Amino acid sequence: MVAQLAVSLDGATTGFEADHARLYALATLWQEDVTLIGADTLLAQESSVRTALRPGPRDAGPLLAVVDSRHRVHNLEALRELGYWSDVLALYSELTPARRADSLIRELVTGYDHVDLAECLDHLGRRGAKLVRVDSGGGLLGAMIDQGLVDELCLLVHPVLIGDAPRWHDSFTRHLDLSLANVETFLPGVTWLRYCVAESSVEVGETVGGDG
Ligand SMILES: NC(=O)c1ccc[n+]([C@@H]2O[C@H](COP(=O)([O-])OP(=O)(O)OC[C@H]3O[C@@H](n4cnc5c(N)ncnc54)[C@H](OP(=O)(O)O)[C@@H]3O)[C@@H](O)[C@H]2O)c1
Repeated sequence: MVAQLAVSLDGATTGFEADHARLYALATLWQEDVTLIGADTLLAQESSVRTALRPGPRDAGPLLAVVDSRHRVHNLEALRELGYWSDVLALYSELTPARRADSLIRELVTGYDHVDLAECLDHLGRRGAKLVRVDSGGGLLGAMIDQGLVDELCLLVHPVLIGDAPRWHDSFTRHLDLSLANVETFLPGVTWLRYCVAESSVEVGETVGGDG
């Protein structure tokens, strides 16, 4: 399980002009089997999805798996058509509100009030997924860090201070030791930090990343 996000020097994930071209170019390094994304991240992109071209699913693309226990995302069919993903899988929980009976989107139900993230990764791994990349502003990533599900963490650090804004690291409490795998600096001063989660962060009886 790999996570990558664009951050300000003080850890904000919004409120600045992120170098998205660089972020997505770097993300292609992994050739992920599954892009795991949180509902809030998708809701923030709703208006751009509405106006985007829809060439149709890309057979060779990753699966888009959407964590949405409250069923707040209603444009999954449109996301599948964007030409990046091969298909979309909605991840719901027992308490997720009822879905449209005619929905063509596949779904996986795990957990009671929240999606059970470890069970989802197990399911994806059993179906052949070897690499999952999480796309999150911090909420979903924090839950995955707390559950010991992240193997690699990459930050594209931008030379800006945002001040009062949510931080990517607000939502977890776990101590993780990291080992630096790579550092690259790009003009105009954007730094890419790539860390692996150290083995010492893994508790006895726990496997890092499950099948992800
Ligand atoms: N700078 C970057 O690289 C970057 C990347 C992505 C997004 N963003 C920005 O960040 C913002 C969104 O980030 P966010 O942190 O608010 O949301 P997020 O990362 O999308 O996380 C929210 C999702 O995580 C799920 N979640 C949280 N805790 C969970 C748990 N314990 N178990 C299972 N699921 C859990 C929530 O589930 P429920 O379905 O139950 O609510 C929800 O679907 C947007 O403004 C977006 O534009 C920035």
